[in-house]
Amino acid sequence: MTAQPSTELIEATGTAVERAARTLGAGGLVAFPTETVYGLGADATNGAAVARLYDAKGRPSFNPLIAHVADLDAAHRLARFDPAAERLAAAFWPGPLTLVLPRRADCPVAELATAGLETIAVRVPDHPVARAILLAFGRPVVAPSANRSGHVSPTTAQHVLADLRGRIELIVDGGATPMGLESTIVACLGEPMLLRPGALPRADIEATVALAEPPPAAPTSVDDEEALLAPGQLASHYAPRARLRLDAERVNAGEALLAFGPASAEGAERAVLALNLSRDGDLIEAAANLFSHLRALDGCGAATIAVMPVPHEGLGEAINDRLQRAAAPRA
Ligand code: TXA
Ligand code: MG
Repeated sequence: MTAQPSTELIEATGTAVERAARTLGAGGLVAFPTETVYGLGADATNGAAVARLYDAKGRPSFNPLIAHVADLDAAHRLARFDPAAERLAAAFWPGPLTLVLPRRADCPVAELATAGLETIAVRVPDHPVARAILLAFGRPVVAPSANRSGHVSPTTAQHVLADLRGRIELIVDGGATPMGLESTIVACLGEPMLLRPGALPRADIEATVALAEPPPAAPTSVDDEEALLAPGQLASHYAPRARLRLDAERVNAGEALLAFGPASAEGAERAVLALNLSRDGDLIEAAANLFSHLRALDGCGAATIAVMPVPHEGLGEAINDRLQRAAAPRA
């Protein structure tokens, strides 16, 4: 996939569905209609594709994404369902409900897509085009709303084109989306909790499970554009056990090293474990590696991880945002 793709817009036919699945399989970005809004899809299991997706959206931060799957069986392979989650899925899937659930240990979704969290947002959309693409592709597809960061969610293929032309490979035009409002998000990580009001009314959910009140200090309406840094009240940011020392030019004894770029840090040979986000200095590759490298370094036993400077341009802004959060002292 090239850095500056030319964007094709095609009618949602059987051929378009096959094209969409092939493009996703090659790491490409495909916008498609769901019953709520148009989503911008990438292969959820391909960290580099997910990194390109954040880049195309122009997100200044890695907000966790919703994994879209064709059916409940596929959802069970990603996350653990408690009885409340099973009841909600049985009542409302396929449909405009996203469940935030514990991520399974063997979940194949790239860590970047869930922003390094232990939880994952999952949804089974109810739109013939979305379902056909998911069935043809056969793997989970992460899809945020197909708009540039800071813009409203798109409900037509033309909205998507206006926002993302030249940044994604393909737009599958299935007409205007029937609901025009994003899915309702409910966390099932204990007592079910409403994280984002959306196309499925609260009353429908409460007829199936009781909803706990969110903590008083927490925002009640959460969306990426409104609350970039607080994706859902329950989604704390990935926090390593080890301390992070940012903008490190050298490695001290006993430290692990998170490197970036071709140059090596002074004393790199001393590092307990050294991993490079991208030897070529490629920020998309670096984003794809960020959470998995941090996790591996955190597991090596070093008390401190020295982190080489990462430039602030492009995805570097989001990478630095997450590094700063991971480095912040914890309560
Ligand atoms: O209707 C929709 O949900 C559309 C269509 C395309 O499916 N998608 C959508 O995605 O609205 P997006 O990325 O624009 O919004 C997803 C929201 C974000 O606010 C994100 O923070 C939250 O879901 N989210 C994702 N994973 C989460 C998690 N593990 N914990 C808490 N919130 C999460
Ligand atoms: Mg959005």
